[in-house]
Amino acid sequence: MSLLIKKPLSMLAGETGDSEHSLKRTLGPGALVALGIGAIIGAGLFSLTGIAAANNAGPGVIYSFILAAFGCAFAGMCYSEFATMIPIAGSAYTYAYATMGELLAWIIGWDLVLEYAVGAATVSISWSSYVVSLLHDFGIELPAALIASPWQPVHLANGTTVFGVINLPAVLITSAISILLMVGIQESARVNEVMVVLKVTVVLVFIVARWGFINPANHTPMIPPNTGTFGEFGYSGIVRAAGVIFFAYIGFDAVSTAAQEAKNPQRDMPIGILGSLVVCTILYVAFAWVMTGLQPYTAFKGSAAPVAVAIAATPYLWLARLVKFAIICGYTSVILVMLLGQSRVFFSMSRDGLLPKFFSEVHPKFRTPWRSNLLFLVFVSLFSGFAPISVVGEMTSIGTLLAFVIVCAGILIMRKTQPDIKRPFRTPLVPLVPILGILANFGLMLGLGIENWLRLVIWMAIGLAIYFGYSRHHSKVRELSR
Ligand code: ALA
Repeated sequence: MSLLIKKPLSMLAGETGDSEHSLKRTLGPGALVALGIGAIIGAGLFSLTGIAAANNAGPGVIYSFILAAFGCAFAGMCYSEFATMIPIAGSAYTYAYATMGELLAWIIGWDLVLEYAVGAATVSISWSSYVVSLLHDFGIELPAALIASPWQPVHLANGTTVFGVINLPAVLITSAISILLMVGIQESARVNEVMVVLKVTVVLVFIVARWGFINPANHTPMIPPNTGTFGEFGYSGIVRAAGVIFFAYIGFDAVSTAAQEAKNPQRDMPIGILGSLVVCTILYVAFAWVMTGLQPYTAFKGSAAPVAVAIAATPYLWLARLVKFAIICGYTSVILVMLLGQSRVFFSMSRDGLLPKFFSEVHPKFRTPWRSNLLFLVFVSLFSGFAPISVVGEMTSIGTLLAFVIVCAGILIMRKTQPDIKRPFRTPLVPLVPILGILANFGLMLGLGIENWLRLVIWMAIGLAIYFGYSRHHSKVRELSR
């Protein structure tokens, strides 16, 4: 039973106080929505939309975006309820600790490393390929061995193929952002806001400037007939494509990790979480509509830069470079918010004694959990430099989906066990919404295939070894209950 020991809400409430050991409360509703958008719009939109249209859904990919948005919205509402009830840094980890006990809290905290740290690595690898491509436009070629992970083939212009040794640009960007995060939350939020404005502008320009170039023939039929194989067009293709582009929505929950840095978390957390989700859903559907209208969906097959393919159908070629630049900025902000979220989760776990105290030490001047940032500088760099993108991308998705499932289950449990606690935001239609959230997100997990489940199990086994070897014996909650 002791594995189910819970962190009392009264103890959580005591952690919100301001002192030189706590994080700074500087973020308002606008900054929180920007934080969400910062984490959301990235590799998913700019790379996966084309891939999902070409392989699974055709123009029907816009329905996939709507479908995935529902799954995320169910989870987003549950996140919002928790975030207003328990406005402490640490996100789903903290919620699980208060509702489902220490072991599950540990499992989810450990799992969030997949979402945030491995997610940051995924986007940094995609960032690297756009930087390489932009530099190429300006006649600058980086050595092939330094732009890809080991054994990954790089096809050179002269027709030969060489293999990568390390993805150096990806390592450099994760290191640079980790250092920025050590210097300060306000500085990081400001950099994030600039990048968000840039990437949203480009998405809007793409939508508005190209709308007139849509060829209705490319949208007919909206749902190409199924090929006979599940997931290849038709209705099943839309569902499969929703699983692929789910990655594009990851990040809205990162807002909840900053609850302790929000000025008024009880009012602003739902605005940040659900607001960023709504804005991105509208942008995604419009973006996918225009993109699939510019070219037949088959034109995106096998393309690493589908946006460039779509632009090629219009006379504004000069915009291609600008778009690439904005995409690079967009990816930068995704990496920033993911790494920010990760360090805050470790900060909370360490403050609870489940990880060494070392990680919750707040820098006396910068007031940031800088040692957590430092650890993840090294950890994420290893993935960025040496792992293939498909592996890290799918690990991110399965990890995130598991977190969503646990958070939705947490709301069901909490409504039963703590019905009277103050909930400034209430998930509507309980138990229907959390149950739909569990079903939708678990369904997407099932679609991710056996290899990813295996990776998840191995990662969790490592986590459990740490929990039973260290965390259990150092837990503060356990100590207090003795
Ligand atoms: N949603 C983020 C992206 O698409 C992770 O890059």
